[in-house]
Amino acid sequence: MTPATTDIFVKRDFSAEYEPLRLADNAIRADNPLPESMKPDPQSQHASPQTPHTATPAAGPRIALLGDLHCFTRRFLPWQLISKRIGGALNVWFHRGKHLRMDLIPVLNRRIETIDPTTILAPGDLTMTALPREYAMAKQALGPLLDRYDLLTVAGNHDRYTFTSARTKRFEFHFPKQTVTAFPHHRELASGVHVVAIDTAKPNVIGDLGRVGDEQLGALATMLKGLPAGEPVIVLSHYTIGTPPGAKPEKPSHRLIDEAELITALRESDRQILFIHGHVHRPWCYRHPVATNVVSLDTGAPTLTSAAYPAGQGLWELEHGPDGWQITRHKLESNLNWATQSVVWPLEPGQVAAV
Ligand SMILES: [Fe+2]
Ligand SMILES: [Fe+2]
Repeated sequence: MTPATTDIFVKRDFSAEYEPLRLADNAIRADNPLPESMKPDPQSQHASPQTPHTATPAAGPRIALLGDLHCFTRRFLPWQLISKRIGGALNVWFHRGKHLRMDLIPVLNRRIETIDPTTILAPGDLTMTALPREYAMAKQALGPLLDRYDLLTVAGNHDRYTFTSARTKRFEFHFPKQTVTAFPHHRELASGVHVVAIDTAKPNVIGDLGRVGDEQLGALATMLKGLPAGEPVIVLSHYTIGTPPGAKPEKPSHRLIDEAELITALRESDRQILFIHGHVHRPWCYRHPVATNVVSLDTGAPTLTSAAYPAGQGLWELEHGPDGWQITRHKLESNLNWATQSVVWPLEPGQVAAV
């Protein structure tokens, strides 16, 4: 049966227009649906949202990490392409759009519901080119989570893809309860676990440079040093602080301009920091070789498929208890069954956890 469709009207933030979208009930618009061979196995216990993978109550906060979703559309109005977005359009038409599976998002949502987190952290890149239509997709796709869970996100470079989208604060407009406008932002979760969010994304004419900025860096250094020594701190960022030892370095045009200064601020804080980021679509977890008080975790991109990740790059779950962080990888296998893996906390500088 063909699902009924619903008009979703999304108020745009830079004009008085309303943009109608035709979206199927109970499903996001699937520009790039999964082939039949990759549909969920109804016999699998993991395919059922009624089957929680864990029944143990959390000793401390339980956090789900949701990486870069990159909600996208192939439909652009001509004037929307008179900007850097032309590059993004070519990307979704001929390259990345072939590998981003929007219809994985409901599968991810159901898995997060089984994790039943106290908080969801999302390091940005919810959209591809920061179009209002993409924001509408992201908002509808995440709707079940937004209604139920505390979710904190920061903008990625794709969420501020154009100068107009950044100037008009399109990200903040569409996710007013899930983001903040003053950075660095501190909140304390249960049991003395601190989250500090930083704003690293900015628009670019070309390239994908990010920046923390001197003012935010100074405030971050002060904020971190003001947190109680010994209490765990998560720093949530879109951009990275480098790649793990042995991995290919990022292109200079894809990094933070002031990456070295951020690493210094983190190192000199002398706090035990779990640095959570997205941006580089490759899940990893390693102890930084220079800022040895920092473990860096890349959430990856859960909608991005490849030979290595045929059903996307999965999710992460964090739980903090008396023994410190417990990290669990939730990997979505090619048959869309979930597998879990406990990640060994890296202790030595430069140590990379197997994930
Ligand atoms: Fe990014
Ligand atoms: Fe990304």
